[in-house]
Amino acid sequence: MLRITAYSALFFLLFHLFNTHSSAINFLYNSFNPTDLILISDARVDSSIVRLTNDSDQSSIGRAFYPTPLKMITTPTNTNTITSFSTSFVFSILPQDPTNPGFGLAFVLSNTTSPSGAISGQYFGLFSNALPIHTPLLAVEFDTGQNQEFNDSDGNHVGIDLNSIQSSFNQTAGYWDSTGEFRTIHMNSGQNIRAWIEFSGTDLQINVTISPAGISKPSRPLISYQNPEIVNYLSDQMYVGFSASKVTWVERQRILGWSLSDMGGAARELNTSNLPVFLPDSPPRGSPSAGLISGTTIGSVVVMAVCLWGLYWFWYRKQRNKEELEADDDKIEEWELEYWPHRFSYEELWKATKGFSKEEMLGFGGFGRVYKGVLSSTTEIAVKCISHDSKQGVREFMAEISSMGRLQHKNLVNMKGWCRKGNELMLVYDYMPNGSLNNWIFDKPNTPEDQILGWDVRRRVLGDVAEGLLYLHHGWDQMVLHRDIKPGNILLDGEMRGRLGDFGLAKLYQHGEAPGKTRVVGTLGYLAPELAHVPAPTAASDVYSFGVVMLEVACGRRQIEGWLEEEDEVLLVDRVSELYVEGRVLEAVDERIRGECKVEEMEKVLKLGLACSHPDPNHRPTMKEVVAVLLGEEAVARLGSLVVDLGRIGSGAFDDPT
Ligand SMILES: *[C@@H]1O[C@H](CO)[C@@H](O)[C@H](O)[C@H]1NC(C)=O
Repeated sequence: MLRITAYSALFFLLFHLFNTHSSAINFLYNSFNPTDLILISDARVDSSIVRLTNDSDQSSIGRAFYPTPLKMITTPTNTNTITSFSTSFVFSILPQDPTNPGFGLAFVLSNTTSPSGAISGQYFGLFSNALPIHTPLLAVEFDTGQNQEFNDSDGNHVGIDLNSIQSSFNQTAGYWDSTGEFRTIHMNSGQNIRAWIEFSGTDLQINVTISPAGISKPSRPLISYQNPEIVNYLSDQMYVGFSASKVTWVERQRILGWSLSDMGGAARELNTSNLPVFLPDSPPRGSPSAGLISGTTIGSVVVMAVCLWGLYWFWYRKQRNKEELEADDDKIEEWELEYWPHRFSYEELWKATKGFSKEEMLGFGGFGRVYKGVLSSTTEIAVKCISHDSKQGVREFMAEISSMGRLQHKNLVNMKGWCRKGNELMLVYDYMPNGSLNNWIFDKPNTPEDQILGWDVRRRVLGDVAEGLLYLHHGWDQMVLHRDIKPGNILLDGEMRGRLGDFGLAKLYQHGEAPGKTRVVGTLGYLAPELAHVPAPTAASDVYSFGVVMLEVACGRRQIEGWLEEEDEVLLVDRVSELYVEGRVLEAVDERIRGECKVEEMEKVLKLGLACSHPDPNHRPTMKEVVAVLLGEEAVARLGSLVVDLGRIGSGAFDDPT
C-alpha cells in the first residue's frame, strides 16, 4: 500500500509539472499501411497485414505500436485519473513447422517501444529473462508454448503479464459459447482469432475475451482480472501495440485488423468478413468433386510420404547406430527433441566459420577451440568445439547444454544451440565482440591511457558478473555452480557489459544437499583453498573465485603473476590483505586508474574482494550479500522469489562422472 501511495505521489508531481491534457485516441484499421504504425525490428506491413517476425531462421523480435502513446494517467482536477480503454483486434499465429508449438504474441502497453534488454524466444521480445523488469509494462500474452519455469498452465493460454514473463494470471485459450459451454481455441492453428480487451482505470480491472473471428463477442470474458497493484505498472504515457519473437523456428504472427478507443464505450467494430485466412495447408477451394479428387490425391500422397519417411527413418537409425556414439547417444536425441536449445546442422556451422578456418579462430576455451562465425551473413556467433574421445566428454557436454540452454540471463553468455558431428561436439553462443576481461585488464601493458578500462566500467562489469552469478546460485530451485570463474571466462558484449561464460563445468546441486565428491576442476589461483582437501565445490568456492577476480580487476594485477617461479612471489590476495592490515589498502589499486578518485568505492570493492576470498568458506559472504553491497538491495530483490524447477531436465545428464 505504501508503494502505491509513493507511486501516486510521484505521478501527481509529474503531472503537476507537465500539466498535460488528455487527447482521446480512437482508431480503426481494417487494413494497415506501413505508415500507420511504428514498426520495430522484423515487423512490417505486408499486403495490408502486420507481420511481427520474419521468415528467416534467425532469432529475432518484431513489434508494432500505434505512433501516439495513450495518456494513461491524467490529473484534470488535481487527482489522478487513470484512463480506461477498449480495444479489439484479429490475429493469427502459424508456426511453419506444425509440430512446433511456437511462442505466440503479446498485446503490450509500455512506456517505451523498446524495453531494454528484451530478448527473443519465449520472452515475446519484451523481457530479458524470467525476472521482472523495471519498465512499466502490461502485456496480455497469447502464448502457444508451455514454459514450466514461468508457471504456464498449459501450452495454449492467455495471460496477464505485469512487468514479468511470469503471468499474474493465466487461462487456457477459449471462450464460453451462448450455452455456457467452454470451447478451446487452438491459437497456433493459423485460424483468425478475434480478441477484445477492456481496461477500466477506475476499477483497475482488465477483461480479455477471445473467439474465432466471425463469431459475435462472447458475453462472458475469458479473463477478468482485477488488481489495484496494476497502477504500479502504468506510466503517464504508454505505447500500445504488439510484440512477438522467435528463436530459430519460423512462426508467422499476424495482426489483421485493430481498433482502439479510450473515450469510454466499446472499440469500433472491425470488419472481419473479408479477412484472408492463413491456414497451414488450405485445401483448394472449388466444387465438391474437385475437393474430393484433390482429397484422394492428397490422401495417397500422404500414405506414400509416410512409407518413404518410415524407410528413411529405418535407414537413418541404422546409419546412426553404426557411426555414432553408443551408450549415451539416445539421451542426446531426447534432448534434441525435448529441450532447448536448437540443434544446428554441421553444414550450417561449417559455412558460418568458413570451414572452421584458422583465421576465424578466437582462441581456446575450457575444452577446446572457439571459432567466430556468421550465420546468414548477419548474426555473429561463437562456436566452441569440444573434442571428446571419452564418455566423460559426452557427459560434460550434455551437462553444459542442458544447463546452458535453460539458463537465460542478461549477464550470462547465452547459448543459441549445439551440433554434433561424429566425435565432434559444438556449442553455439552469442558472439561477444569485446572479448574477455583478460584482454582489457592484463594483456595491455603499453596501451595508451584512453584505452585502459576505466574504474566505472570495471565496477559495472563486476556488478554484472555478480548478478549473473547470483542468478546461477539463487535463481533456480537447484543451485548451479560455475566452478571456473576467472577473467578469461568473463566476456564483454557490444555495450561493454559483463557476461559470465563457459558453463562447461557447471553442475547442478540440490539446495541444501551435500554435493558429492567430484574431481577438482577449475583454474589454479582461483580455486578456493579448502578444495585442496575437500574436492567438493560449493557456492562459497565460487564466491572465492569471484573475490579473486574483484581484486584482480581493482588492482590490474593477476593473482599469480609468474607461475610462482620467483621465491618471493606473493599471491595478490595475500598482498592486498597485508596492505589492508597496514591501513594502506588503496595502494593496491591499479596505478592506471588510481587518479579516478572514487576512493570510497575502490575501498568497498577491495574490502568485498577480501571478504570473498577469505580462507575460511564460512566467513565468505553469499552472492546475495555481494550483490547487495555492489548494486544495492534492490538488485537482489529483482531476483524475487523466482524459483525454477530444473528437476525435469534429463536425469542422467547430471550424474556424477564417478
Ligand atoms: C469485465 O467483465 C465483468 C464480468 O462480465 C464485468 O462485470 C465488468 O464490468 C467488466 N469490466 C470491464 C472493464 O469491462
